[in-house]
Amino acid sequence: MGKAAAPKKNWAKKDWIYPHRHLLGIEGLSKQDITRILDLAEGFIEKNRQIDKKYPILKGRTLINLFFENSTRTRMSFELAGKRLGADVINMSVATSSVKKGETLIDTAMTLNAMHPDFITMRHPESGAVHLLSRKVNCSVINAGDGSHEHPTQALLDALTIRRKKGRIEGLTVAICGDILHSRVARSNILLLNAMGAKVRIIAPPTLMPPQPEKLGVKVFNDMRKGLKDCDVVMTLRLKTEYMENSFVPSSREYFHFWGLDEEKMSYAKKDAIILDPGPIIRGLQIDSKLADDIGRSMILDQVEMGVAVRQAVLEILSHTLQTK
Ligand code: CP
Repeated sequence: MGKAAAPKKNWAKKDWIYPHRHLLGIEGLSKQDITRILDLAEGFIEKNRQIDKKYPILKGRTLINLFFENSTRTRMSFELAGKRLGADVINMSVATSSVKKGETLIDTAMTLNAMHPDFITMRHPESGAVHLLSRKVNCSVINAGDGSHEHPTQALLDALTIRRKKGRIEGLTVAICGDILHSRVARSNILLLNAMGAKVRIIAPPTLMPPQPEKLGVKVFNDMRKGLKDCDVVMTLRLKTEYMENSFVPSSREYFHFWGLDEEKMSYAKKDAIILDPGPIIRGLQIDSKLADDIGRSMILDQVEMGVAVRQAVLEILSHTLQTK
């Protein structure tokens, strides 16, 4: 296998510097910020396919992963991203931590801060919890998903997946379908896609639509076929049942019939349309199993691959911010 070239450090050009100490959301990022993060991530992809995947650019740095909700993709990819860049990575197990003895989030944050980490990634069920943490610590904080608010690295990896497959984001029509109401992935994607000049549609039953959805800068549809018509990108979302106190849908069968992505509904999108899903996918509920496995159209595993590269880029950019603060 050939040696991969070092990632292009476009972010370090004098005309741009990442303007924040943290990555708390897509909100507050410009088109240029997003583009530079994607450009840097692009440079890690080939290296991650080699036998030697390491660039020791975070040697001596410490990353703590603090997940108050379950995760496979985000936690694993932050761990891999940190390790491949040479950082020491600690995964705090909330289930076996002193949180279970009643320690508050603030006290947990201050305790971790006293150990001088350089980065903390946090996932938490409460919207705003990551902002709160960022005000209590000296290191960079990365939002790995807070309630129904934001999941910025998911939107960045989705954007990288789309850009690599379609060659651009601007001008594309992207339909986000399913449980928009509870989805931090939808919110971050809407912000990012709007910033990048895509045309965004959201498709959901009325019970799973956020209040005043038009204010998000999207076109709103309550019909899958109308919403998918001539789309370039279709993004399906899981029903976030862990956020639902009551039942928001009559039955799984009925939900799939009206709102699940299948071959027939997909035929309304453009012929070369691609399918994204942040995962975990619930086969036969938000998406038909065959479509999810259709490697010509389904980008689900590409998204996972891009997740590591995007998180490497974010860590590297924030490490530069730390050096200059
Ligand atoms: N997409 C995503 O956030 O997946 P995980 O919950 O597995 O991290």
